[in-house]
Amino acid sequence: METKILRMDIEHISTEDLAQAGAVIRDGGLVAFPTETVYGLGGDALNPESSRKIYAAKGRPSDNPLIVHIADMEQLGYIVEEIPEGVEKLALEFWPGPLTMIMKKSSVVPLQTTGGLDTVAVRMPSHPVAREFIRAAGGYVAAPSANISGKPSPTTAKYVIQDMDGRIDMIIDADGVEIGLESTIVDMTGEVPMILRPGFITLEMLSKVIGPVEMDVALLNIDSTAKPKAPGMKYRHYAPKGELVIVEGEPEQVVSYINQACKEHVAQGKRTGIIGTQESISQYKADCVKCAGSRADADAIARQLYTFLREFDDEGVEFIYSEAFDVGEKGQAIMNRLLKAAGHKIIFLN
Ligand code: TXA
Ligand code: MG
Repeated sequence: METKILRMDIEHISTEDLAQAGAVIRDGGLVAFPTETVYGLGGDALNPESSRKIYAAKGRPSDNPLIVHIADMEQLGYIVEEIPEGVEKLALEFWPGPLTMIMKKSSVVPLQTTGGLDTVAVRMPSHPVAREFIRAAGGYVAAPSANISGKPSPTTAKYVIQDMDGRIDMIIDADGVEIGLESTIVDMTGEVPMILRPGFITLEMLSKVIGPVEMDVALLNIDSTAKPKAPGMKYRHYAPKGELVIVEGEPEQVVSYINQACKEHVAQGKRTGIIGTQESISQYKADCVKCAGSRADADAIARQLYTFLREFDDEGVEFIYSEAFDVGEKGQAIMNRLLKAAGHKIIFLN
């Protein structure tokens, strides 16, 4: 299949290009598009055949449900059984934005889209291209992240093309993918809302609006063997080709541990990579050293993490070490992704 690549300017979105992209979705095709979190791989959420194609293009197990993206609040009622009060409140505060809410699905949403579940995950992205594209596509776009299953989610069109060229009909390339980690997912079907995937919208931010919110216990404990409630969270994910290890401890100890480990790999002719922070970066020695920004700046770390993991692949790095990031509640989202990318390999130095 030939994949058409459409470059869009977020300041001047071409209505012709949008109509073309929307028509692909309405005809049952697939279009990758930018959102403020990561690129999505979109298909018509109400067409079971489109969902089947999404799973095939990603190489994703079909029991892993997709998020349905909408552009306007009026669209929500059609795809859910009812809109809980908490959803309305959270939507007012955080939509459009990086928050996904799970509700009971209505009969119009095919089980192929929800991985066989009777619930549906819904998100209203804020990226201007995403919003206009969803409208042009008919209002309901099912989209997982636009990576091959298991790889880091793409935050630039370059990596969407790397994974999806030849597998889908179209890729929309635009700037503005600024958050860099996938949306927070909160399950609104229980008595107390529960976070199934941490993200930019934190538990504290949610509970300020709706009162008590819980965190899926499987996400809290890094050694946890509990099964996560979001089906997708159980898979190894976001993984670079090289072996990634996280090192936690006092900053000087971390630097000397990582440098020593890299020295040993280099002695064996291996290529090494490090993710460090402004505070420590000048002390590291490896083939590829990446600076995630200041240790206190969770947003900057989040924005760059997946790009770093992809760049290590591009540069053939075989062993990667990363500092642990302990920056408040957003640090939780970063560590959740980093631990999955590392297959939970973490070394505690104290
Ligand atoms: O930021 C994002 O959320 C991006 C952009 C493209 O919007 N999308 C994204 O989709 O990250 P995906 O498919 O890579 O991750 C969706 C996660 C999976 O872990 C899936 O298991 C979970 O959401 N999920 C979807 N529907 C669910 C449901 N009904 N119940 C529980 N978990 C659900
Ligand atoms: Mg994903």
